[in-house]
Amino acid sequence: MTLLELTDVTAFYGPVQVLDAVSLSVPDGGAVGILGANGAGKTTTLRAISGTVRAGGSIVFDGKDIRGLRPDQVAGLGIAHVPEGRGTLGDLTVRENLRVGAYKRKDRKGIQSDIDYCIDLFPQLKERIKSNASALSGGEQQMLAVGRAIMSKPRLLLLDEASLGLAPSTAKTVYEAIRRLRIESGIAMVVVEQNANLAFTLVDSATVLETGRNVLTGSSAELKGMDEIRRAYLGG
Ligand SMILES: Nc1ncnc2c1ncn2[C@@H]1O[C@H](COP(=O)(O)OP(=O)(O)O)[C@@H](O)[C@H]1O
Ligand SMILES: [Mg+2]
Repeated sequence: MTLLELTDVTAFYGPVQVLDAVSLSVPDGGAVGILGANGAGKTTTLRAISGTVRAGGSIVFDGKDIRGLRPDQVAGLGIAHVPEGRGTLGDLTVRENLRVGAYKRKDRKGIQSDIDYCIDLFPQLKERIKSNASALSGGEQQMLAVGRAIMSKPRLLLLDEASLGLAPSTAKTVYEAIRRLRIESGIAMVVVEQNANLAFTLVDSATVLETGRNVLTGSSAELKGMDEIRRAYLGG
């Protein structure tokens, strides 16, 4: 079953159109990458899905057209956005940030067991649980941002450049945890990355954007085999 289907999506900042025609298909439980250079429209595509930019075309989630819904309505349907720059709340502790992710839930036991799960997934957060988010390293903040998203019990996770600014070993740790999350939870994912090597450890398929359009779409295996992908995105 297809969980999310974007067809010819356009997007605008004021009068300026930055997505021309973006299409994307995410199977239930699947993980799809969006690759592309700076400014290609990757972040804007995620914003179109989460309702934080004005968009045209069709965005269907779980059989329902969600284009034009408010961000809180989209979140309420089970779409969690881990934005570029992480968006953790610096004045709140790690535990409080995790609880904020669960603010719509009433199942106290479930919330606690999901906090435990986040800590199991990202053990570094355990000793930081009472620290303010602002005191965390970049890698820990990224882990917290993913953890906070998990706490809403989403069906779909939108991940924007989870590796940005992290040391390679930290980025790898974060991606391994997200891969484990994917296997254990079955949460579907849209994974925006400039680091295609990392993205391909997580996604089954991907699309490459250039100036707000898809220029290549295929399975991870197909894309990894293409010369133009290797040259532009895989350092070879
Ligand atoms: N808030 C904004 N206002 C106006 N233009 C923007 C804004 N955010 C991004 N853009 C422009 O939209 C285009 C796509 O940006 P973005 O989606 O952030 O690309 P990417 O995430 O692939 O780097 C770029 O040309 C960028 O300059
Ligand atoms: Mg971006």
